Amino acid sequence: MAQNTRIDKLFSVLGIMSRTECKKAVKQGKIALNGIPCRTADAKCDPQTDLITLDGTEIDTRLIVYYMMNKPAGVITAADDPRCETVMDYVEDGRADLAPVGRLDKDTTGFLLITNDGQLNHRLLSPRYHVPKTYRVLIDGILEENDVKRLEKGLDIGDDKPTLPAIVNIPEDRHFLPGEALPEDGTQVVLLTITEGRFHQVKRMFEAVGKPVLRLHRQSFGPIELDPDLEEGQLRELTEEELQSLINAAN
Ligand code: URA
Repeated sequence: MAQNTRIDKLFSVLGIMSRTECKKAVKQGKIALNGIPCRTADAKCDPQTDLITLDGTEIDTRLIVYYMMNKPAGVITAADDPRCETVMDYVEDGRADLAPVGRLDKDTTGFLLITNDGQLNHRLLSPRYHVPKTYRVLIDGILEENDVKRLEKGLDIGDDKPTLPAIVNIPEDRHFLPGEALPEDGTQVVLLTITEGRFHQVKRMFEAVGKPVLRLHRQSFGPIELDPDLEEGQLRELTEEELQSLINAAN
């Protein structure tokens, strides 16, 4: 955004409030520019360098932001829901234009990207770019050689087309998540990497080989691994390096 941006425009672009609301807030003395109360809503500011506060709290004027979230179970991936807690309830950013990139089911945990970069969001989900996503999956049953072959080759899950080839790995660490007790006998932890994002895709792939999913956790998105220090429900901004690798993955 330009160096000489009107305060009311900045607030509305950031999704904090409309221009009319901003005018009102200015009149009420709620908005300050570099510590001095703003007199008019058309006052000019430099979003890169000026300190802008609303009710004494600094406004984050960076326009495009990228968060990595460790999604908890029981929370839906939606912007808003009248009945259920949503992932956006965990984002304290206050920006109205943030949206999750793709969806994780209510009971799925792990890596969810949240951004207001609509273009990158679109690209990361586009089948054209085949961005890989790796899931840690606890299944009811033990994969046989033929199951692995079918998952790897691509299989019929009831859509028009079979799934694209996937990568199957059996991790050495048999815990589903670090620090948890070992899963029950007769179950297995599997790492599955897919490059599509069809509805309930992972669950349907394992259903197709007769080994239903008991738990599902996304551990990486494109080249980025979920930060092990993020507790469920926590989020942090992507580092410059992570962001660059993500942009490269979608190019
Ligand atoms: N596949 C599923 O079945 N569920 C998810 O949440 C993500 C991928």
